[in-house]
Amino acid sequence: MASYSANMNVMMGAARKAAVRLKRDYGEVDQLQVSRKGPADFVTAADIRTEKILREELGRARPDFGFLMEESGEEAGSDAAKRWIVDPVDGTTNFVHGIAHFAISIALEEDGELTAGIVFDPINELMFSAEKGAGAMLNDRRIRVSARQSLAESLFATGIPFKGRKGQDNFLPAMEAVMNHSAGIRRFGSAALDLAYVAAGRYEGYWENGLQAWDIAAGIVLVREAGGLVSEVNGGSGMLSSGSILAATPALHGTLGNLVRRGEP
Ligand code: IPD
Ligand code: CA
Ligand code: CA
Repeated sequence: MASYSANMNVMMGAARKAAVRLKRDYGEVDQLQVSRKGPADFVTAADIRTEKILREELGRARPDFGFLMEESGEEAGSDAAKRWIVDPVDGTTNFVHGIAHFAISIALEEDGELTAGIVFDPINELMFSAEKGAGAMLNDRRIRVSARQSLAESLFATGIPFKGRKGQDNFLPAMEAVMNHSAGIRRFGSAALDLAYVAAGRYEGYWENGLQAWDIAAGIVLVREAGGLVSEVNGGSGMLSSGSILAATPALHGTLGNLVRRGEP
């Protein structure tokens, strides 16, 4: 049996608790698909409800820590050095459309550094977790990034910038370059799970622009602890503030960056 630090147990416990209600809500959203009004308002309510449970659970266990949460924003803690970064439902568009690919994402930031993260897919009961220096896990088993070296055999994930999102100008050339040299590209609609899948060796890499800190904070810890490399698409290290990310195996990080930036490996 794997053993986790106290903070990791707090994060996993909060996610599991919030997931009970979220799963029930997802079951109802499936029913709502047929109504003409659509499930959008209901889903916003599910997002807010999930965040509230996470806020309560994390706050009860660590009353001094601050928060950065998607729905309720920033909240300072009495311990200014520590905060939780939370996305209650990453993959909301999937959730609304009855597609079972979404996750709860929680990261811990200490003194400006990401030190722990969990990404929990409640439908498939997949708990991806990682803590700085302790490696990355999927349901208590150690995970590592893929060992595949060949670009032609590699599978990549991305996010397609939708209406009003940054990064639309450069997206198609980048995708064309990656698609011409790789085994394929996936767009499954949850940045947190995209990063978790890189950590688990399912994708060799992932890139996206126009994201928010809560989409990627936990996933960054996962990929790093699984032995992968994470940067901005331009190679910089300000992913949380710019929302630009490129994560891949050590063998392919440079190559994926070249493809995305200049169209050649
Ligand atoms: C979204 C997902 C998606 C990404 C979007 C994000 P949300 O988060 O991570 O994969 O492409 O840019 O906004 O809105 O479902 O929490
Ligand atoms: Ca998100
Ligand atoms: Ca969200």
